[in-house]
Amino acid sequence: MRLANEVALITGGSSGVGRSIVERFVAEGAKVAVLGRSADSLRQLEQEYGENVIGMVGDVRQLSDLKSAVNQCVERFGKIDTLIANAGIWDYNMSLVDLPEDKMDQAFDEMFHVNVKGYLLAAKACLPQIAATRGNMIFTVSNAGFYTSGGGPLYTSTKHGVVGLVRQLAYELAPYIRVNGIAIGGALTNLRGPASLEMENRSLTSMYNEWYKDVDLEPGKENVESAAPIGRILCGEDYAGAYVFFASRNDNIPATGEVLNFDGGWGIRGLRKKTGSQGLLEKLKIRD
Ligand SMILES: NC(=O)c1ccc[n+]([C@@H]2O[C@H](COP(=O)([O-])OP(=O)(O)OC[C@H]3O[C@@H](n4cnc5c(N)ncnc54)[C@H](O)[C@@H]3O)[C@@H](O)[C@H]2O)c1
Repeated sequence: MRLANEVALITGGSSGVGRSIVERFVAEGAKVAVLGRSADSLRQLEQEYGENVIGMVGDVRQLSDLKSAVNQCVERFGKIDTLIANAGIWDYNMSLVDLPEDKMDQAFDEMFHVNVKGYLLAAKACLPQIAATRGNMIFTVSNAGFYTSGGGPLYTSTKHGVVGLVRQLAYELAPYIRVNGIAIGGALTNLRGPASLEMENRSLTSMYNEWYKDVDLEPGKENVESAAPIGRILCGEDYAGAYVFFASRNDNIPATGEVLNFDGGWGIRGLRKKTGSQGLLEKLKIRD
C-alpha cells in the first residue's frame, strides 16, 4: 500500500474522476476527506468506505467552505498530506462566436471561479496543514491546459490558468510542499457546465453518446473511434494511478512544478491521420 497513513483532501470527489481517485486512495491505505456539492453522493461515499472517508458539503468558490473542510478533515484524521484540487465544470466547447454577449460576464466569472479560483482557495485553505506535513498538492488539469478544441475559449483558458498556478505555487512553496498537475484527457463522466450558460444539467457522457453514435462506449474497450491516439475511451479509473504516484512520498521525490500529460496521446496526434500505425500489424504479420 503506497499511501498507508497518508491523508488526502479532494474537491469534487463524489463523482467521476474524483470518485475513482477516492476509491484508489483508500485501496492504497489513505484516509480521504471529500468536499462536494451533493450531500446524497457524499453520504453514499461514507457508507461505501466507512471510517476511511469523510464527506463534506461545500462550494469551492467559498474560502470559508474550504477552511471548514480542512478543519473537519484534521479533526477526523489528524492532518492533511495531499490536496487534490479537482472540482471543475466544462463549457461544452462553446466557441467565441456562439457565446451570447449578454452572458459573457457571468459565464467567464463562473468558469474561472470554479476552475481556477476554486483551486487557489483550496491551496490557501490547506496551506498551513500541508506545510506542517511537508506534503503535496495535485491539481487536475486537462488536455485543454495545453491544446485547443478540448473546450471553448472559456474552459481552455481556465485550464491553461491552472498550469500557471501549478508552476507559481510550486515555486513559492518549495522545498516544503510539492505542487504538480495531471493533464487528464477525455473521461466518460457527467461533467457539468456553467449555470450561467444553462449547462448545469448537461452531461459529458450524453455528448459522448451523440459523438460516437455507433460505438460501444464501454470503458476500456479498445479500437473505438476515440479522439485520442491511445484508441480507447478512458474513464476515471484509468487516471487514478497518476494521482497515487504524485501523492506517494517515495515515488515523486524529484517532481514539483510539473504537469503530466496523461491524456491518451493528445500531443502526438497526426495532421492527416490520428496515428501513423495504419497497416502496422499486417506488416509485422500480427493478427489483430
Ligand atoms: N471528463 C473529462 O473528459 C475531463 C477531461 C479533462 C479534464 N477533466 C477535469 O476533471 C475534473 C473532474 O471532472 P469529471 O469529469 O470527473 O466530472 P464530474 O462532474 O464528475 O466531477 C466534477 C466534480 O466537481 C464538483 N463541482 C463542480 N462545481 C463545484 C463547486 N462550485 N463546488 C464544489 N464542487 C463542485 C461536481 O459536483 C463534481 O462532483 C474537472 O476538473 C474537469 O475539468 C475532465
